[in-house]
Amino acid sequence: MGRITAGIGSSHVPAIGAALDRGATAHPDWAPIFAGYEWTRHWIAAQKPDVVILVYNDHASAFSLDAVPTFALGCADSFTPADEGWGPRCVPVVQGHSKLAWHMANSLVLEEFDLTLMNQMDVDHGLTVPLSLMLGQPAEWPVKVIPLAVNVIQYPTPTANRCFRLGEAIARAVKSFPEDLDVQVWGTGGMSHQLSGKRAGLINREWDTKFLDQLTADPDALRTMSHEEYIREAGSEGMELIMWMTMRGALGPRIRELHRFYHVPASNTAVGHVVFTPED
Ligand code: DHB
Ligand code: FE
Repeated sequence: MGRITAGIGSSHVPAIGAALDRGATAHPDWAPIFAGYEWTRHWIAAQKPDVVILVYNDHASAFSLDAVPTFALGCADSFTPADEGWGPRCVPVVQGHSKLAWHMANSLVLEEFDLTLMNQMDVDHGLTVPLSLMLGQPAEWPVKVIPLAVNVIQYPTPTANRCFRLGEAIARAVKSFPEDLDVQVWGTGGMSHQLSGKRAGLINREWDTKFLDQLTADPDALRTMSHEEYIREAGSEGMELIMWMTMRGALGPRIRELHRFYHVPASNTAVGHVVFTPED
């Protein structure tokens, strides 16, 4: 049987990947950020999950506005790091878990979630930067990854509640997988940031802190929050936090918060990071 053993939330700022890739992790601008992930790197190395279902958003790397899937599930055997304009990051090719992904596709579509099934997809910083933060710089990624890309680029984006319910359905899919697998669900993006327009540079520490508190203790408050409130409080790109709601939905009602980190700034972004385990 598949088991969801943990949930992780993390920002996915591209400049963090660039700092890692060019060996700048000890620079005073970056050292506090990498220090905030150190606990998790040790913890995951001991946990050794088999699969990560990695809920993130594509940033016009795999998709253009020609086709905008609301939820795109990576069913392929492998996923190549995307070229985001400076050449692909020099990180290992991501190995998928096609069997679990197709099981999820069956289960979720029969539960009336309309997924786009991706048999080929390049993965951008939304997926590869959190892998680097959590797993370091190995020659091969030590875990298989099922990418699940959520549209937060083109309105209308899914609601926080829809994302949460998707997480609940993912948990049912994993539990009904016939083989023994330890599965983690990660949600990436956020926290508060806005990259363009009049409010570019927006950071809202108070709101971010409340989001982290409620994610642990009162996720229903975040499920019912409107798009407008997410964007007003966390900025246009703060909308990426709905991906964390899928992770939270997959863990069930009772969770334990093992680790939390918050830092301002990284590039234009407030960096947030949590590690949860389910209690039931
Ligand atoms: C930044 C943050 C993001 O989440 C992203 O996708 C792109 C850029 C930034 O702060 O620079
Ligand atoms: Fe982003």
